Amino acid sequence: CTTRHYTFNIVQKNVTRLCKTKSIITVNGKFPGPRLIAREGDQVLVKVVNNVTNNITLHWHGIRQLRSGWSDGPAYVTQCPIQTGQNYTYNFTITGQRGTLFWHAHISWLRSTLHGPIIILPKKNETYPFRKPYKEVPIIFGEWWNADPEAVISEALQTGGGPNVSDAYTINGRPGPSYNCSSKDTFKLKVKPGKTYLLRLINAAMNDELFFGIANHTLTIVEADAVYVKPFSTSVVVITPGQTTNVLLKTKSHHPNATFIMAAQPYSTGQGTFDNSTVTAFLEYEGKNPSNKNAIFTPTLPQFNATSFVANFTKKFRSLNNPKYTIANVPQKVDKQFFFTVGLGTTPCNQNSTCAGPNGTKFAASVNNVSFALPATALLQAHFSKKSNGIYTTDFPTNPQNPFNYTGTPPNNTLVSNGTRLVSLPFNTSVELVLQDTSILGAESHPLHLHGFNFFIVGEGFGNYDPTNDPLNFNLVDPVERNTVGVPSGGWVAIRFLTDNPGVWFMHCHFDVHTSWGLRMAWIVLDGPLPSQQLPPPPFDLPKC
Ligand code: C2O
Repeated sequence: CTTRHYTFNIVQKNVTRLCKTKSIITVNGKFPGPRLIAREGDQVLVKVVNNVTNNITLHWHGIRQLRSGWSDGPAYVTQCPIQTGQNYTYNFTITGQRGTLFWHAHISWLRSTLHGPIIILPKKNETYPFRKPYKEVPIIFGEWWNADPEAVISEALQTGGGPNVSDAYTINGRPGPSYNCSSKDTFKLKVKPGKTYLLRLINAAMNDELFFGIANHTLTIVEADAVYVKPFSTSVVVITPGQTTNVLLKTKSHHPNATFIMAAQPYSTGQGTFDNSTVTAFLEYEGKNPSNKNAIFTPTLPQFNATSFVANFTKKFRSLNNPKYTIANVPQKVDKQFFFTVGLGTTPCNQNSTCAGPNGTKFAASVNNVSFALPATALLQAHFSKKSNGIYTTDFPTNPQNPFNYTGTPPNNTLVSNGTRLVSLPFNTSVELVLQDTSILGAESHPLHLHGFNFFIVGEGFGNYDPTNDPLNFNLVDPVERNTVGVPSGGWVAIRFLTDNPGVWFMHCHFDVHTSWGLRMAWIVLDGPLPSQQLPPPPFDLPKC
């Protein structure tokens, strides 16, 4: 195994999109950011130097961070931010993972421009469970605002209303010809006929799940969230923010003399407005001069609210269930059960004023009606030094305190409570968690992301979860293993994971607007009895608040 050294300088950079030039925050002046490449088993050191006026943290989304919670990155959860002029070296070893993940800023909305691919190759002498692709290409989806995204979210939090939607989606940072002034600003994938390409799809968009397809080409899904899956083919991929999906693209055997459009557009079921535009890029064949090069084919994507399409698609994911590639097994027995509602809600406006949220209130979001407040110091440090007093409590409700018909007529009272309440669990607890969407202010899919673990998706369905009958249909044989799951709009999902990683682990909706509104919480996993089950002390350069 090797040690890989990276230096990520956080710097402002002028970029032009949609006819406007503005300064954005980048890593090393690149947008999207640089690729981090390593092999399974490698140690990775990333020195992050903050040269901008904003506070910064970076998160290595999906990296397990086994006993390296100090390098996980969510601000005020595992670390205080890196302040202007300061630096911090993230230090982690990639254990039992290979595939595609991504890194992104984990403070406020800075991840809108601070993100890039993580590519984990198999160990030397190990192969993919599919034929070696001719070439590998990261395809990263993003969301672009003409305004400063930090201003967009801070205005929304002040007025209590929904934030302005983005002005464009991007593929590898480029909006493409369906947007103003952007026909030259288009990502082009040049391919050779008769070859297999591995596309590493990453949804780094802020607030939108996406449909993606390539005209006249079928895609074979082989991996999700850096875990191999049983291959299946599809013409449309659904990908939530926080998810990564590897697909094989087999090119046509003869030069087709045409341009094939690749497109992504939103899947959205919420009541609010969303960016309903389409980003396009081109798939073109290299080679001799085609006579009728102007033939252009467009992919067909589902309706923006095609929930049944999404449900059918997500059901196709199955773990490979091949001992050669399996790292973890689905927990067969459960030590601790949790039932969490996830959804929107409201908080009152300040006295004598009206806010832009529902009925003059402010928008909020919660888990079991708790809208999670981040502390002014880092939870992991408070936990490690046993100084939780005044910072957090460990009384997060295991069930909704006032049960209601979650997917029926919403209750009149939409108020959430605020708190920094966590769940504390012993090492090696087998957890079953049911995440139930609520129809408060409209049913909506929520891409829930768990830090520090992969989980197995053992069941999902529409309506209210039925604790008697639904578990009878759980898949405990080959459920897919992921780090981000779309809780179905108007439905539920059941996941299982083993608390084999001591630390404090964030869980939140990967729609940044919902995270900002409080749809987040954290799990404490206590040390086990053996030294190899304990969180080491913090590194010397851990930032201070
Ligand atoms: Cu991709 Cu907590 O984040």
